[in-house]
Amino acid sequence: MDRVAVVDYGSQYTQLIARRIREAGVYSEIFPPTAPLERILAHQAVVLSGGPSSVYDPGAPLPPPELFEAGIPVLGICYGMQAMALLLAGKVEPSSHREYGRSEVTLVAEDPLLDGVVPDASEGRVTVWMSHGDVVLSPPPGFRALASTANCPVAAMSAPARRLYAVQFHPEVAHTPQGMLVLQNFLFRIAGLTPSWSMSSFVDQAVREIRARVGHARVLCALSGGVDSAVTAALVHRAIGEQLQCVFVDNGLLRKGEGQTVRRTFQDRFGMRLLYVDAAARFLGRLGGVVDPEEKRKRIGGEFIAVFQEEAERLGTIPFLAQGTLYPDVIESTSFRGPSATIKTHHNVGGLPSDLRFTLIEPLRELFKDEVRVLGEVLGLPPEIVWRQPFPGPGLAVRILGEVTEERLAAVRDADAIVQEEIEVSGLGRGLWQAFAVLLPVRTVGVMGDYRTYAQVVALRAVVSQDAMTADWARLPYELLARISSRIINEVAGVNRVVYDISSKPPSTIEWE
Ligand code: XMP
Repeated sequence: MDRVAVVDYGSQYTQLIARRIREAGVYSEIFPPTAPLERILAHQAVVLSGGPSSVYDPGAPLPPPELFEAGIPVLGICYGMQAMALLLAGKVEPSSHREYGRSEVTLVAEDPLLDGVVPDASEGRVTVWMSHGDVVLSPPPGFRALASTANCPVAAMSAPARRLYAVQFHPEVAHTPQGMLVLQNFLFRIAGLTPSWSMSSFVDQAVREIRARVGHARVLCALSGGVDSAVTAALVHRAIGEQLQCVFVDNGLLRKGEGQTVRRTFQDRFGMRLLYVDAAARFLGRLGGVVDPEEKRKRIGGEFIAVFQEEAERLGTIPFLAQGTLYPDVIESTSFRGPSATIKTHHNVGGLPSDLRFTLIEPLRELFKDEVRVLGEVLGLPPEIVWRQPFPGPGLAVRILGEVTEERLAAVRDADAIVQEEIEVSGLGRGLWQAFAVLLPVRTVGVMGDYRTYAQVVALRAVVSQDAMTADWARLPYELLARISSRIINEVAGVNRVVYDISSKPPSTIEWE
Protein backbone atom coordinates (compact mmCIF):
# COMPACT_ATOMS: atom_id res chain seq x y z
CA MET A 1 0.00 0.00 0.00
CA ASP A 2 1.33 3.45 -0.92
CA ARG A 3 1.96 5.73 2.03
CA VAL A 4 2.59 9.44 2.38
CA ALA A 5 4.56 11.00 5.24
CA VAL A 6 3.29 14.40 6.34
CA VAL A 7 5.96 16.23 8.32
CA ASP A 8 4.35 18.57 10.84
CA TYR A 9 5.94 21.97 11.31
CA GLY A 10 3.15 23.09 13.60
CA SER A 11 0.47 24.30 11.23
CA GLN A 12 -3.11 24.22 12.43
CA TYR A 13 -3.85 22.53 9.09
CA THR A 14 -1.42 19.61 9.30
CA GLN A 15 -4.12 17.14 10.18
CA LEU A 16 -6.27 18.49 7.41
CA ILE A 17 -3.48 17.69 4.94
CA ALA A 18 -3.43 14.09 6.18
CA ARG A 19 -7.19 13.95 6.00
CA ARG A 20 -7.32 15.25 2.42
CA ILE A 21 -4.76 12.64 1.39
CA ARG A 22 -6.94 9.95 2.99
CA GLU A 23 -9.93 11.38 1.13
CA ALA A 24 -7.96 10.88 -2.06
CA GLY A 25 -7.61 7.21 -1.05
CA VAL A 26 -3.97 7.20 0.04
CA TYR A 27 -2.77 6.27 3.51
CA SER A 28 -0.95 9.09 5.27
CA GLU A 29 0.74 9.50 8.59
CA ILE A 30 2.02 12.56 10.44
CA PHE A 31 5.59 12.79 11.72
CA PRO A 32 7.32 15.39 13.88
CA PRO A 33 10.22 17.31 12.29
CA THR A 34 12.57 15.29 14.51
CA ALA A 35 11.60 11.93 12.94
CA PRO A 36 14.67 10.15 11.51
CA LEU A 37 15.06 10.54 7.76
CA GLU A 38 14.98 6.75 7.17
CA ARG A 39 11.46 6.61 8.58
CA ILE A 40 10.30 9.37 6.27
CA LEU A 41 11.99 7.75 3.29
CA ALA A 42 10.11 4.51 3.95
CA HIS A 43 7.15 6.30 2.33
CA GLN A 44 6.38 6.89 -1.34
CA ALA A 45 5.92 10.66 -1.05
CA VAL A 46 6.42 13.43 1.50
CA VAL A 47 4.46 16.56 2.31
CA LEU A 48 6.05 19.30 4.41
CA SER A 49 3.34 21.17 6.29
CA GLY A 50 3.01 24.84 7.06
CA GLY A 51 3.94 26.21 10.44
CA PRO A 52 4.04 29.33 12.57
CA SER A 53 7.83 29.84 12.49
CA SER A 54 9.95 31.95 10.21
CA VAL A 55 12.71 29.93 8.57
CA TYR A 56 15.05 32.55 10.05
CA ASP A 57 13.91 31.98 13.67
CA PRO A 58 16.69 30.59 15.83
CA GLY A 59 15.97 26.88 16.17
CA ALA A 60 13.33 26.90 13.41
CA PRO A 61 12.64 23.24 12.54
CA LEU A 62 14.09 22.41 9.13
CA PRO A 63 14.06 19.16 7.16
CA PRO A 64 17.42 17.43 6.62
CA PRO A 65 18.77 18.70 3.25
CA GLU A 66 19.34 15.05 2.17
CA LEU A 67 15.57 14.68 1.93
CA PHE A 68 15.70 16.72 -1.28
CA GLU A 69 18.41 14.53 -2.79
CA ALA A 70 16.68 11.21 -2.08
CA GLY A 71 14.57 11.18 -5.25
CA ILE A 72 11.32 10.89 -3.28
CA PRO A 73 8.55 13.28 -4.42
CA VAL A 74 8.22 16.17 -1.95
CA LEU A 75 5.48 18.78 -1.74
CA GLY A 76 6.24 21.78 0.49
CA ILE A 77 3.25 23.78 1.69
CA CYS A 78 3.70 27.34 3.01
CA TYR A 79 6.42 27.05 5.67
CA GLY A 80 7.36 23.75 4.00
CA MET A 81 7.94 25.68 0.78
CA GLN A 82 9.99 28.38 2.50
CA ALA A 83 12.15 25.73 4.18
CA MET A 84 12.68 23.97 0.85
CA ALA A 85 13.60 27.27 -0.83
CA LEU A 86 16.00 28.27 1.95
CA LEU A 87 17.81 24.92 2.08
CA LEU A 88 18.20 24.76 -1.69
CA ALA A 89 19.57 28.30 -1.98
CA GLY A 90 16.50 30.18 -3.16
CA LYS A 91 15.89 33.70 -1.92
CA VAL A 92 13.54 33.85 1.06
CA GLU A 93 12.67 37.21 2.55
CA PRO A 94 11.70 37.41 6.19
CA SER A 95 8.58 39.44 6.68
CA SER A 96 7.38 41.29 9.71
CA HIS A 97 3.71 41.06 8.76
CA ARG A 98 1.66 38.02 7.89
CA GLU A 99 -0.50 37.76 4.80
CA TYR A 100 -3.66 36.02 5.89
CA GLY A 101 -6.81 35.19 4.01
CA ARG A 102 -8.19 34.89 0.53
CA SER A 103 -5.83 35.71 -2.28
CA GLU A 104 -5.65 35.33 -6.05
CA VAL A 105 -2.69 33.80 -7.84
CA THR A 106 -1.70 34.25 -11.46
CA LEU A 107 -0.50 31.07 -13.12
CA VAL A 108 2.80 31.78 -14.88
CA ALA A 109 3.93 28.34 -16.11
CA GLU A 110 2.43 24.97 -16.94
CA ASP A 111 3.21 22.10 -14.64
CA PRO A 112 1.68 18.73 -13.73
CA LEU A 113 1.09 20.10 -10.22
CA LEU A 114 -1.42 22.62 -11.58
CA ASP A 115 -2.92 20.42 -14.28
CA GLY A 116 -6.62 21.12 -14.65
CA VAL A 117 -6.52 24.17 -12.36
CA VAL A 118 -8.61 26.84 -14.08
CA PRO A 119 -9.06 30.54 -13.45
CA ASP A 120 -12.02 31.13 -11.12
CA ALA A 121 -11.32 34.68 -9.97
CA SER A 122 -10.85 38.13 -11.49
CA GLU A 123 -8.54 38.66 -14.46
CA GLY A 124 -7.82 35.01 -15.06
CA ARG A 125 -6.52 34.35 -11.57
CA VAL A 126 -7.09 31.41 -9.23
CA THR A 127 -8.54 31.75 -5.73
CA VAL A 128 -6.35 30.41 -2.92
CA TRP A 129 -5.99 30.75 0.85
CA MET A 130 -2.79 32.27 2.17
CA SER A 131 -1.41 32.41 5.68
CA HIS A 132 2.27 33.18 5.79
CA GLY A 133 4.99 35.58 6.90
CA ASP A 134 8.18 34.83 4.96
CA VAL A 135 8.09 35.16 1.18
CA VAL A 136 10.08 33.31 -1.49
CA LEU A 137 11.44 36.07 -3.74
CA SER A 138 13.20 33.81 -6.22
CA PRO A 139 13.16 30.03 -6.53
CA PRO A 140 16.27 27.93 -5.93
CA PRO A 141 18.50 27.13 -8.93
CA GLY A 142 16.86 24.46 -11.08
CA PHE A 143 13.33 25.47 -9.95
CA ARG A 144 10.85 27.60 -11.81
CA ALA A 145 8.03 29.71 -10.50
CA LEU A 146 4.57 28.44 -11.41
CA ALA A 147 2.36 31.13 -9.91
CA SER A 148 2.59 34.53 -8.31
CA THR A 149 0.56 37.12 -6.41
CA ALA A 150 1.11 40.80 -5.74
CA ASN A 151 2.79 40.00 -2.42
CA CYS A 152 4.37 36.75 -3.41
CA PRO A 153 6.54 36.59 -6.52
CA VAL A 154 6.79 32.82 -6.11
CA ALA A 155 3.44 31.42 -4.98
CA ALA A 156 4.24 27.94 -6.36
CA MET A 157 7.42 26.37 -7.73
CA SER A 158 8.74 23.08 -9.03
CA ALA A 159 11.85 21.20 -10.08
CA PRO A 160 10.21 18.24 -11.90
CA ALA A 161 13.49 16.45 -12.63
CA ARG A 162 14.14 16.31 -8.88
CA ARG A 163 10.46 15.63 -8.08
CA LEU A 164 10.33 18.68 -5.81
CA TYR A 165 7.19 20.84 -5.67
CA ALA A 166 5.95 23.59 -3.42
CA VAL A 167 3.05 25.96 -2.95
CA GLN A 168 2.85 29.06 -0.81
CA PHE A 169 -0.91 28.77 -0.44
CA HIS A 170 -2.84 26.09 1.46
CA PRO A 171 -4.31 23.54 -0.96
CA GLU A 172 -5.74 21.53 1.97
CA VAL A 173 -8.31 24.12 3.14
CA ALA A 174 -11.78 24.50 1.69
CA HIS A 175 -11.05 28.18 0.98
CA THR A 176 -8.72 27.04 -1.80
CA PRO A 177 -11.50 25.67 -4.03
CA GLN A 178 -9.16 23.81 -6.41
CA GLY A 179 -6.76 22.74 -3.68
CA MET A 180 -7.83 19.10 -3.71
CA LEU A 181 -6.94 18.96 -7.39
CA VAL A 182 -3.43 20.24 -6.62
CA LEU A 183 -3.00 17.56 -3.94
CA GLN A 184 -4.34 14.87 -6.26
CA ASN A 185 -1.96 16.00 -9.01
CA PHE A 186 0.91 15.63 -6.58
CA LEU A 187 -0.21 12.21 -5.35
CA PHE A 188 -1.18 10.62 -8.65
CA ARG A 189 0.42 12.48 -11.56
CA ILE A 190 3.69 13.32 -9.89
CA ALA A 191 4.27 10.63 -7.27
CA GLY A 192 2.37 7.98 -9.26
CA LEU A 193 0.62 6.60 -6.19
CA THR A 194 -2.33 4.22 -6.27
CA PRO A 195 -5.44 5.08 -4.25
CA SER A 196 -5.88 1.92 -2.21
CA TRP A 197 -6.69 3.23 1.27
CA SER A 198 -10.20 3.07 2.67
CA MET A 199 -11.91 3.13 6.03
CA SER A 200 -11.83 -0.68 6.12
CA SER A 201 -8.07 -0.63 5.80
CA PHE A 202 -8.06 1.86 8.69
CA VAL A 203 -10.01 -0.71 10.73
CA ASP A 204 -7.53 -3.47 9.89
CA GLN A 205 -4.60 -1.32 10.85
CA ALA A 206 -6.19 -0.01 14.06
CA VAL A 207 -7.12 -3.56 15.07
CA ARG A 208 -3.52 -4.71 14.60
CA GLU A 209 -2.18 -1.78 16.58
CA ILE A 210 -4.62 -2.19 19.46
CA ARG A 211 -3.85 -5.92 19.71
CA ALA A 212 -0.11 -5.30 19.67
CA ARG A 213 -0.45 -2.63 22.33
CA VAL A 214 -2.69 -4.32 24.89
CA GLY A 215 -1.71 -7.98 24.48
CA HIS A 216 -3.87 -10.01 26.86
CA ALA A 217 -4.67 -7.13 29.21
CA ARG A 218 -8.14 -5.76 29.81
CA VAL A 219 -9.34 -2.40 28.49
CA LEU A 220 -11.99 -0.18 30.04
CA CYS A 221 -14.21 2.10 27.98
CA ALA A 222 -16.73 4.64 29.24
CA LEU A 223 -19.68 4.73 26.87
CA SER A 224 -21.62 7.97 26.81
CA GLY A 225 -24.19 7.09 24.18
CA GLY A 226 -22.42 9.51 21.83
CA VAL A 227 -20.89 8.57 18.52
CA ASP A 228 -17.23 8.95 19.53
CA SER A 229 -17.24 6.59 22.47
CA ALA A 230 -19.54 4.19 20.60
CA VAL A 231 -17.19 3.94 17.63
CA THR A 232 -14.19 3.60 19.95
CA ALA A 233 -15.86 0.73 21.79
CA ALA A 234 -16.87 -1.00 18.55
CA LEU A 235 -13.34 -0.71 17.18
CA VAL A 236 -11.62 -1.90 20.34
CA HIS A 237 -14.16 -4.71 20.62
CA ARG A 238 -13.36 -5.78 17.06
CA ALA A 239 -9.71 -5.97 18.13
CA ILE A 240 -9.89 -7.66 21.54
CA GLY A 241 -13.47 -8.88 22.08
CA GLU A 242 -14.02 -10.04 25.65
CA GLN A 243 -11.00 -8.16 26.96
CA LEU A 244 -13.00 -4.96 26.56
CA GLN A 245 -15.11 -3.89 29.51
CA CYS A 246 -17.54 -1.05 28.83
CA VAL A 247 -19.14 1.07 31.51
CA PHE A 248 -22.21 3.18 30.92
CA VAL A 249 -23.09 5.63 33.67
CA ASP A 250 -26.75 6.57 33.38
CA ASN A 251 -26.82 9.98 35.05
CA GLY A 252 -30.57 10.34 34.60
CA LEU A 253 -29.96 13.39 32.42
CA LEU A 254 -30.21 11.52 29.13
CA ARG A 255 -32.78 11.81 26.41
CA LYS A 256 -35.71 9.46 26.17
CA GLY A 257 -34.78 5.90 25.33
CA GLU A 258 -31.03 6.52 25.32
CA GLY A 259 -30.17 4.03 28.02
CA GLN A 260 -32.09 1.31 26.18
CA THR A 261 -30.41 2.10 22.85
CA VAL A 262 -27.00 1.72 24.45
CA ARG A 263 -27.94 -1.58 26.05
CA ARG A 264 -29.59 -2.93 22.95
CA THR A 265 -26.69 -2.00 20.73
CA PHE A 266 -23.69 -2.91 22.78
CA GLN A 267 -24.92 -5.69 25.01
CA ASP A 268 -27.48 -7.44 22.83
CA ARG A 269 -26.24 -6.80 19.34
CA PHE A 270 -22.47 -6.69 19.74
CA GLY A 271 -22.36 -8.95 22.78
CA MET A 272 -20.00 -6.65 24.63
CA ARG A 273 -19.33 -6.80 28.33
CA LEU A 274 -21.31 -3.81 29.52
CA LEU A 275 -21.71 -2.60 33.05
CA TYR A 276 -24.82 -0.43 33.23
CA VAL A 277 -24.72 1.86 36.24
CA ASP A 278 -27.98 3.50 37.21
CA ALA A 279 -26.77 6.61 39.03
CA ALA A 280 -29.76 8.87 38.30
CA ALA A 281 -30.64 9.36 41.95
CA ARG A 282 -27.07 10.30 42.87
CA PHE A 283 -26.88 12.96 40.16
CA LEU A 284 -30.29 14.38 40.92
CA GLY A 285 -29.31 14.55 44.58
CA ARG A 286 -26.21 16.58 43.74
CA LEU A 287 -28.25 18.99 41.62
CA GLY A 288 -30.85 19.86 44.27
CA GLY A 289 -31.23 23.64 44.62
CA VAL A 290 -28.49 24.42 42.06
CA VAL A 291 -29.34 27.03 39.44
CA ASP A 292 -25.94 28.36 38.37
CA PRO A 293 -24.95 26.75 35.04
CA GLU A 294 -21.26 26.46 35.89
CA GLU A 295 -22.06 24.93 39.26
CA LYS A 296 -24.31 22.37 37.55
CA ARG A 297 -21.51 21.44 35.15
CA LYS A 298 -18.97 21.14 37.95
CA ARG A 299 -21.17 18.94 40.08
CA ILE A 300 -22.15 16.68 37.20
CA GLY A 301 -18.53 16.37 36.05
CA GLY A 302 -17.35 15.62 39.59
CA GLU A 303 -20.07 13.07 40.21
CA PHE A 304 -19.35 11.30 36.93
CA ILE A 305 -15.69 10.88 37.86
CA ALA A 306 -16.62 9.64 41.34
CA VAL A 307 -19.09 7.05 40.00
CA PHE A 308 -16.73 5.93 37.26
CA GLN A 309 -13.83 5.49 39.64
CA GLU A 310 -15.88 3.49 42.12
CA GLU A 311 -17.11 1.17 39.39
CA ALA A 312 -13.66 0.85 37.80
CA GLU A 313 -12.20 -0.18 41.16
CA ARG A 314 -14.87 -2.81 41.58
CA LEU A 315 -13.92 -4.27 38.19
CA GLY A 316 -10.39 -5.07 39.37
CA THR A 317 -7.13 -4.09 37.76
CA ILE A 318 -7.65 -2.77 34.27
CA PRO A 319 -4.54 -1.07 32.91
CA PHE A 320 -5.95 0.53 29.74
CA LEU A 321 -8.68 3.07 29.11
CA ALA A 322 -10.06 3.53 25.59
CA GLN A 323 -11.27 7.05 24.84
CA GLY A 324 -12.96 8.56 21.83
CA THR A 325 -10.72 11.61 21.56
CA LEU A 326 -10.98 13.12 18.09
CA TYR A 327 -8.53 15.34 16.31
CA PRO A 328 -10.53 18.54 16.96
CA ASP A 329 -10.47 17.67 20.70
CA VAL A 330 -6.72 17.26 20.47
CA ILE A 331 -6.21 20.70 18.95
CA GLU A 332 -8.79 22.33 21.17
CA SER A 333 -7.01 21.12 24.26
CA THR A 334 -3.49 21.90 23.03
CA SER A 335 -2.30 24.50 20.58
CA PHE A 336 -5.54 26.14 19.60
CA ARG A 337 -7.29 26.73 22.84
CA GLY A 338 -9.61 29.42 21.58
CA PRO A 339 -11.72 31.74 23.68
CA SER A 340 -14.64 29.31 23.40
CA ALA A 341 -12.77 26.88 25.64
CA THR A 342 -13.15 29.20 28.59
CA ILE A 343 -16.68 30.44 27.98
CA LYS A 344 -18.12 27.26 29.43
CA THR A 345 -16.21 24.55 31.25
CA HIS A 346 -17.09 22.56 28.22
CA HIS A 347 -15.73 19.42 26.89
CA ASN A 348 -14.24 18.46 30.22
CA VAL A 349 -17.73 17.79 31.46
CA GLY A 350 -18.69 14.20 30.97
CA GLY A 351 -15.03 13.36 30.44
CA LEU A 352 -12.37 11.96 32.69
CA PRO A 353 -9.46 13.83 34.26
CA SER A 354 -6.05 13.27 32.70
CA ASP A 355 -4.43 12.04 35.93
CA LEU A 356 -6.24 8.70 36.07
CA ARG A 357 -4.02 5.67 36.53
CA PHE A 358 -4.85 4.27 33.09
CA THR A 359 -2.77 4.07 29.95
CA LEU A 360 -4.88 5.71 27.26
CA ILE A 361 -5.89 4.14 23.97
CA GLU A 362 -7.25 6.74 21.57
CA PRO A 363 -7.78 5.07 18.20
CA LEU A 364 -9.75 8.00 16.73
CA ARG A 365 -7.12 10.65 17.50
CA GLU A 366 -6.36 11.27 13.86
CA LEU A 367 -9.93 11.48 12.65
CA PHE A 368 -12.52 14.17 12.15
CA LYS A 369 -16.15 13.74 13.19
CA ASP A 370 -17.50 12.88 9.75
CA GLU A 371 -14.73 10.30 9.30
CA VAL A 372 -15.74 8.77 12.64
CA ARG A 373 -19.29 8.41 11.39
CA VAL A 374 -18.09 6.60 8.27
CA LEU A 375 -15.96 4.38 10.49
CA GLY A 376 -19.01 3.68 12.68
CA GLU A 377 -20.93 2.54 9.61
CA VAL A 378 -18.05 0.30 8.52
CA LEU A 379 -18.10 -1.26 12.00
CA GLY A 380 -21.83 -1.94 11.73
CA LEU A 381 -23.14 0.54 14.28
CA PRO A 382 -26.83 1.41 13.78
CA PRO A 383 -27.76 4.76 12.17
CA GLU A 384 -29.34 6.10 15.37
CA ILE A 385 -25.90 5.99 16.98
CA VAL A 386 -23.78 6.88 13.95
CA TRP A 387 -25.92 9.89 13.06
CA ARG A 388 -26.70 10.94 16.59
CA GLN A 389 -26.58 14.66 17.23
CA PRO A 390 -23.91 16.01 19.56
CA PHE A 391 -25.25 15.95 23.10
CA PRO A 392 -23.59 17.82 25.97
CA GLY A 393 -21.92 15.80 28.73
CA PRO A 394 -24.10 17.46 31.42
CA GLY A 395 -27.11 16.36 29.40
CA LEU A 396 -30.58 17.76 29.93
CA ALA A 397 -29.39 19.57 33.06
CA VAL A 398 -28.09 22.43 30.89
CA ARG A 399 -31.36 22.48 28.98
CA ILE A 400 -33.37 23.07 32.12
CA LEU A 401 -32.82 26.66 33.09
CA GLY A 402 -33.04 26.98 36.83
CA GLU A 403 -33.28 24.03 39.18
CA VAL A 404 -33.21 20.47 37.86
CA THR A 405 -36.02 18.48 39.41
CA GLU A 406 -37.50 15.13 38.47
CA GLU A 407 -40.66 16.83 37.24
CA ARG A 408 -38.83 19.39 35.08
CA LEU A 409 -36.58 16.63 33.72
CA ALA A 410 -39.65 14.70 32.64
CA ALA A 411 -41.05 17.80 30.91
CA VAL A 412 -37.90 18.60 28.95
CA ARG A 413 -37.36 14.94 28.08
CA ASP A 414 -40.89 14.58 26.72
CA ALA A 415 -40.62 17.83 24.79
CA ASP A 416 -37.26 16.75 23.38
CA ALA A 417 -38.66 13.41 22.28
CA ILE A 418 -41.37 15.23 20.31
CA VAL A 419 -38.73 17.44 18.66
CA GLN A 420 -36.66 14.38 17.70
CA GLU A 421 -39.68 12.50 16.33
CA GLU A 422 -40.93 15.38 14.23
CA ILE A 423 -37.49 16.24 12.87
CA GLU A 424 -37.01 12.58 11.96
CA VAL A 425 -40.35 12.44 10.16
CA SER A 426 -39.55 15.67 8.29
CA GLY A 427 -36.35 14.14 6.92
CA LEU A 428 -34.48 17.36 7.73
CA GLY A 429 -32.37 15.90 10.53
CA ARG A 430 -29.16 15.29 8.62
CA GLY A 431 -28.99 18.92 7.57
CA LEU A 432 -29.08 20.08 11.19
CA TRP A 433 -26.25 20.14 13.69
CA GLN A 434 -28.65 19.90 16.61
CA ALA A 435 -32.34 20.36 17.38
CA PHE A 436 -33.66 20.25 20.92
CA ALA A 437 -36.01 21.64 23.54
CA VAL A 438 -35.05 23.92 26.42
CA LEU A 439 -37.22 24.41 29.48
CA LEU A 440 -37.26 28.05 30.60
CA PRO A 441 -37.47 29.23 34.21
CA VAL A 442 -40.48 31.45 33.61
CA ARG A 443 -44.18 30.89 33.60
CA THR A 444 -46.66 32.60 31.34
CA VAL A 445 -50.40 32.91 31.19
CA GLY A 446 -52.42 30.79 28.80
CA VAL A 447 -55.93 29.56 28.33
CA MET A 448 -57.04 25.96 28.16
CA GLY A 449 -60.79 25.38 27.61
CA ASP A 450 -62.49 27.62 30.14
CA TYR A 451 -59.47 27.85 32.37
CA ARG A 452 -56.64 30.25 32.66
CA THR A 453 -53.29 28.49 32.93
CA TYR A 454 -50.01 29.73 34.35
CA ALA A 455 -47.39 27.32 33.08
CA GLN A 456 -43.88 26.85 31.72
CA VAL A 457 -42.31 27.83 28.39
CA VAL A 458 -40.31 25.57 26.10
CA ALA A 459 -37.81 27.14 23.72
CA LEU A 460 -37.03 25.25 20.58
CA ARG A 461 -33.43 25.39 19.35
CA ALA A 462 -32.35 24.08 15.94
CA VAL A 463 -29.03 25.06 14.39
CA VAL A 464 -26.94 24.44 11.34
CA SER A 465 -23.19 24.34 11.80
CA GLN A 466 -19.99 22.84 10.42
CA ASP A 467 -18.09 22.41 13.66
CA ALA A 468 -20.10 24.07 16.48
CA MET A 469 -17.59 26.93 16.64
CA THR A 470 -20.12 29.03 14.77
CA ALA A 471 -23.76 28.22 14.12
CA ASP A 472 -26.86 29.72 12.62
CA TRP A 473 -30.46 29.09 13.57
CA ALA A 474 -32.13 26.69 11.19
CA ARG A 475 -34.82 28.05 8.89
CA LEU A 476 -37.24 25.23 9.71
CA PRO A 477 -40.51 25.20 7.75
CA TYR A 478 -43.39 26.92 9.57
CA GLU A 479 -45.48 23.76 9.22
CA LEU A 480 -42.90 21.75 11.10
CA LEU A 481 -42.60 24.40 13.80
CA ALA A 482 -46.40 24.43 14.09
CA ARG A 483 -46.56 20.66 14.54
CA ILE A 484 -43.82 20.59 17.15
CA SER A 485 -45.38 23.48 19.04
CA SER A 486 -48.89 22.09 19.15
CA ARG A 487 -47.68 18.63 20.12
CA ILE A 488 -45.53 19.95 22.96
CA ILE A 489 -48.33 22.14 24.33
CA ASN A 490 -50.87 19.31 24.07
CA GLU A 491 -48.70 16.43 25.23
CA VAL A 492 -46.27 17.83 27.78
CA ALA A 493 -47.79 18.51 31.16
CA GLY A 494 -47.02 21.92 32.61
CA VAL A 495 -46.12 23.65 29.33
CA ASN A 496 -48.43 26.18 27.69
CA ARG A 497 -46.11 28.08 25.33
CA VAL A 498 -43.39 27.28 22.78
CA VAL A 499 -40.97 29.84 21.33
CA TYR A 500 -38.35 29.46 18.61
CA ASP A 501 -34.78 30.60 19.23
CA ILE A 502 -33.54 32.74 16.30
CA SER A 503 -30.06 33.57 17.63
CA SER A 504 -26.82 32.70 15.90
CA LYS A 505 -23.51 31.74 17.49
CA PRO A 506 -21.72 34.02 18.17
CA PRO A 507 -22.89 35.99 20.04
CA SER A 508 -25.23 33.34 21.48
CA THR A 509 -24.10 29.77 22.09
CA ILE A 510 -25.87 26.65 20.89
CA GLU A 511 -26.84 25.43 24.35
CA TRP A 512 -28.63 27.86 26.63
CA GLU A 513 -26.37 27.17 29.62
P1 XMP B 1 -22.11 25.79 22.78
O1 XMP B 1 -23.30 25.79 23.66
O2 XMP B 1 -20.87 26.29 23.47
O3 XMP B 1 -21.85 24.28 22.38
O4 XMP B 1 -22.33 26.55 21.50
C1 XMP B 1 -21.06 23.85 21.33
C2 XMP B 1 -21.26 22.37 21.16
O5 XMP B 1 -20.73 21.66 22.28
C3 XMP B 1 -21.76 20.90 22.91
N1 XMP B 1 -21.53 21.00 24.35
C4 XMP B 1 -20.91 20.08 25.10
N2 XMP B 1 -20.36 18.89 24.78
N3 XMP B 1 -19.75 18.53 27.04
C5 XMP B 1 -19.79 18.12 25.75
O6 XMP B 1 -19.30 17.02 25.47
C6 XMP B 1 -20.26 19.71 27.43
O7 XMP B 1 -20.21 20.08 28.59
C7 XMP B 1 -20.88 20.52 26.41
N4 XMP B 1 -21.49 21.74 26.42
C8 XMP B 1 -21.89 22.00 25.15
C9 XMP B 1 -23.06 21.53 22.46
O8 XMP B 1 -24.12 20.59 22.50
C10 XMP B 1 -22.73 21.97 21.06
O9 XMP B 1 -22.82 20.92 20.12
